[in-house]
Amino acid sequence: MNRETEARTRPIGMFDSGVGGLSVLGEAVRQLPHEDFIYYGDNGHAPYGTKPPETVRKLAFDVIERLLVQNVKAVVIACNTATAEAAKELREHYSIPIIGMEPALKPAAEMEGDGLRLVLATPGTLSSEKYARLYARFGQNAVSLPCPGLMDFVEAGDRGSPALRDYLKCLLSPYLDRQVTAVVLGCTHYPFIRSLIASYFPLSTRIVDGNAGTVRQLGRVLAQRGLLNPTGEGSVALQTSGDSHTLNLMRRMFEEAKAIR
Ligand code: DGL
Repeated sequence: MNRETEARTRPIGMFDSGVGGLSVLGEAVRQLPHEDFIYYGDNGHAPYGTKPPETVRKLAFDVIERLLVQNVKAVVIACNTATAEAAKELREHYSIPIIGMEPALKPAAEMEGDGLRLVLATPGTLSSEKYARLYARFGQNAVSLPCPGLMDFVEAGDRGSPALRDYLKCLLSPYLDRQVTAVVLGCTHYPFIRSLIASYFPLSTRIVDGNAGTVRQLGRVLAQRGLLNPTGEGSVALQTSGDSHTLNLMRRMFEEAKAIR
């Protein structure tokens, strides 16, 4: 195998604080079926979204080191919080391509409609400087809604318990008699409860996430660097800093993620 082929056939690393980034992985295997992926869920240290930025940064560096020893050719930060708090430092430190995510406020702002854009994300994402810059450009009709604890429902496999419904009702009720053009799922855990969130709004309200755009960006970056694998069989390896029970949950949620559209 020559050096270029070797570089193209290396796996892509992807990580999140837990199972949320599996929603990105589900999209990635659809768009890039010839690639090998190593997904790392940092469940042992979740959640990221309510931790101080410097803690999240350290955790993100630790995870990337774990992926690099497995010879990855690129890393996708399948986590809005870790992107907001660590992507800049990670890119300064490592030379491999690092693809991040941000709440899809730009596409939501560009949609037709005068209604509100509700951005649901972690406290960490919404209080970051990166989000402040995004909001300054595209936040005219936007309301940012921090959702501490919402990811815990998703991690627990909850898709609609009374407690989860109460959480969402309390969060969303101030906006239910307003016109809402779009709800931005600004945390990769939330696509798993997309239909539940959508059920609070009329059908005309669009529910948007950044997953497809992130994977398109990954494809573009790999193509630019001559790193796309055009002929591989495609594979997925799931890894976690959590326990063996977590690994079973991840397997189930990856299957669920492949069905989310
Ligand atoms: N899934 C992560 C995100 O996109 C964060 C969840 C958390 O760890 O708080 O922000």
